[in-house]
Amino acid sequence: MPLRSILCAIFIGLFVVGQPLAKPLVIAHRGASGYLPEHTLESAVLAYSQGADFIEQDLVLSKDNVLVVLHDIHLDTVTNVEQQFPERHRPDGRYYVIDFSLAELQTLRVHERTDQQGKMVFSSRYQGRADFRIATFEEQLELISQLNRMTGKQVGFYPEIKSPAWHRQQGRDISKMVLATLRKHQLDDPNKAVYIQSFDFAELKRWRHELGAKVKLVQLLGENDWHEASTNYDYLKTAEGLAEIATVAQGIGPWLAQVIDQQTFASTGLAEAAHKAGLAVHPYTFRQDSLPDNVQTSQLFALLFGQLQIDGLFSDFPDITVRYLQDKPVD
Ligand code: G3P
Ligand code: CA
Repeated sequence: MPLRSILCAIFIGLFVVGQPLAKPLVIAHRGASGYLPEHTLESAVLAYSQGADFIEQDLVLSKDNVLVVLHDIHLDTVTNVEQQFPERHRPDGRYYVIDFSLAELQTLRVHERTDQQGKMVFSSRYQGRADFRIATFEEQLELISQLNRMTGKQVGFYPEIKSPAWHRQQGRDISKMVLATLRKHQLDDPNKAVYIQSFDFAELKRWRHELGAKVKLVQLLGENDWHEASTNYDYLKTAEGLAEIATVAQGIGPWLAQVIDQQTFASTGLAEAAHKAGLAVHPYTFRQDSLPDNVQTSQLFALLFGQLQIDGLFSDFPDITVRYLQDKPVD
């Protein structure tokens, strides 16, 4: 090899080695939802104090067009709506956020997630009776911004546009409202600590092309039979699909089984393929209280952060994820 090529290789090697690898992001999934009812202001504050880099807000619209922070378009699995407004369900028996004004929503008490039979989904989580309430997107923006101002930290926002096609069927354009809110706060900016996520690829393309959004976008990946959106996730996971995502978004949010084979506990290759396409990889969701029996947290994290080099992780337990990334014991 000519001397010039050798020197060039050494220079490139030093440059790459000399760059500190970006620290993976700890994304508090619905706040510190492993400890306090999801998406409440209390859960966001706890996530903040545990050292999360980003706090997630799932967004749905109220009857009077206020963006509220709730995971579902329904209220019945996280609030006492059935006691408060027993008659206000639709023919399918469900209580829809969009059928209630903000003033009505604010009278509801938020509790730990239950199934439709009222049984706690995560039985070891918060069992107290404190008075938690539904938060608006604006309240979470204010809370986190104020904490940032006072602490000097830059904890970011990670909103998800929930069911945009369903909102459209109800005559609402949730994307326009989320984007207007970001712009009002000067957050439609690729250099700000904000990621917008959606399961709906058509909607993310719309954000970039039709609505002219500048903010960073993340395409969530599910399974086609979840019917989260009319998006074909089998296609998006291919090299061609990932390249298409990269034309509008900065990253993907796959669920854990899409990056780690559940049988062999080895990489599926998706994280590597996404990186090759120039996409960040932010899998969901780390839940300390629902790990498979034979998997320890440290093993899972070593695979995700070590071998797969993921760029961020949605975590119900931000403190545990932060601890691991600080090289402290987690098991
Ligand atoms: O947004 C990442 C992850 O939250 C997607 O799943 O159902 O928890 O919103 P979900
Ligand atoms: Ca979400």
